[in-house]
Amino acid sequence: MIEGTEVLIVDDSPDILDVLGEFLRLHGCLVHEARTGKEALKILSEEKVEAVIADVKLPDTNGISLLEGIKSLDPTIPVIMITGYFEPNLIVDSMRKGASDFILKPIEFERLILALFRAKRERELLLEKMRIQDFLDDKKKILFLNRELQEKIKEISLMYQISEKFNTIKLEEDIFEKVLEVVGEIFEGRSCAYYVVDSKEKKIVPFKTRGTREIWRSITVPEATLDDLLSKKRHMEMENLFFVPVVIKGECVGFIGMEGKRKNGKLEEGELLLLKTIAEKSSVHIENRMLYESLFQNIIQTLKSLVISINRRDAYTSGHCERVTKNSVRVGEILGVSDYEKNILKVTGSVHDVGKIGIPDAILLKPGRLTEEEYRIMKNHSVYGEEIISRFEILANEAKIVKHHHERFDGRGYPDGLLSDEIPLCSRIIAVCDAYDAMVTERPYRRALSREEALSEIKRCRGTQFDPQVVDAFMEMMDEC
Ligand SMILES: [Fe+2]
Repeated sequence: MIEGTEVLIVDDSPDILDVLGEFLRLHGCLVHEARTGKEALKILSEEKVEAVIADVKLPDTNGISLLEGIKSLDPTIPVIMITGYFEPNLIVDSMRKGASDFILKPIEFERLILALFRAKRERELLLEKMRIQDFLDDKKKILFLNRELQEKIKEISLMYQISEKFNTIKLEEDIFEKVLEVVGEIFEGRSCAYYVVDSKEKKIVPFKTRGTREIWRSITVPEATLDDLLSKKRHMEMENLFFVPVVIKGECVGFIGMEGKRKNGKLEEGELLLLKTIAEKSSVHIENRMLYESLFQNIIQTLKSLVISINRRDAYTSGHCERVTKNSVRVGEILGVSDYEKNILKVTGSVHDVGKIGIPDAILLKPGRLTEEEYRIMKNHSVYGEEIISRFEILANEAKIVKHHHERFDGRGYPDGLLSDEIPLCSRIIAVCDAYDAMVTERPYRRALSREEALSEIKRCRGTQFDPQVVDAFMEMMDEC
């Protein structure tokens, strides 16, 4: 029952120590002996004592103080108190302070064994309970850490998604629409809008919106709040909407607005951080886009001034580029081209003949028909145009369109003799609009054709010189006028 138990006996009587010690050793216990409280505590701090049997009267202390000392050292060690007198107050006090049992002298050994066994068992149960408690505490900690880790992983993965989405925005895409698309995807379809600031009216006005909520309307902001927002670039919360500023070069240029959670209209801290991240990324991309567009416009202006200088030399072509551009964009629309292609048509319509700058005046301005050799030189203008435009890396596609604007659908055009679909669609559109405008313009060597004559010529060349689908769209456009 109690074999192997390490027991400390504390008593100032050598007889009791001898008898008790001998008895317990006979029952297989490992016995330590102490005559004073001090000795007892020393042994307890050095040995693996599993139970203490202590007299309530000791030379240096009383049993209650020793009990308190033992429990403060290790609250799991059971203490069995022994006394020569029945003292109810002492018994109650000892039990309240954690004594396991109380045995009167003379000691009944059988009772002592039972008390020791019970105390030992209680200690085992207590230790087991503490181990389980520690395990549960650890498990709770692990669960908590796991949850935190999951949150972090989710946050990192969302941050990565945001970067990825911004990195894949193409030049031809509307940056503001893309910003809202990112917000919509990250926040699972919540309504959002990009707002610009109307400082004069003290309003923020939606510029692009996503979602169907009628809540996306101009919002009047108190003057002090607006000034505060613009100067401190903080986010603001109005009703259940959240606005995060988009800051470029220290200036607040707009806000991304988003509704809070549908349940409670709030925004969690993590969500606000994500929205701010999107606003920061948007700032960089909007700034880049503004720089790009200003550079792009500069280049187009430069090319247009080249075209103007050609037009000055060749007065008959004045207004030609504007008409070709207008018609090409409309034909493109009828054919359902993308916004990107429409922009290409706007640029190439204006500058498709920029290569004529490389054609000598004697040929370009010749009042009569060109000789074969002169025509061969004249044909170089599409390649010259490509060479000029391709110097600007951002106009690589436009350069290709200009190069092929004299290709024929049947493959007999120039410079490369491309056939049907090999010719870029925008080049096929420019080809028809360019030819029509040339026909209705008077030249020194021939009169201008009438609208009907030119249209019937275009129809005649449907499928040979021109793409039939482009011709059909062109006719549809002419019907509109
Ligand atoms: Fe041309």
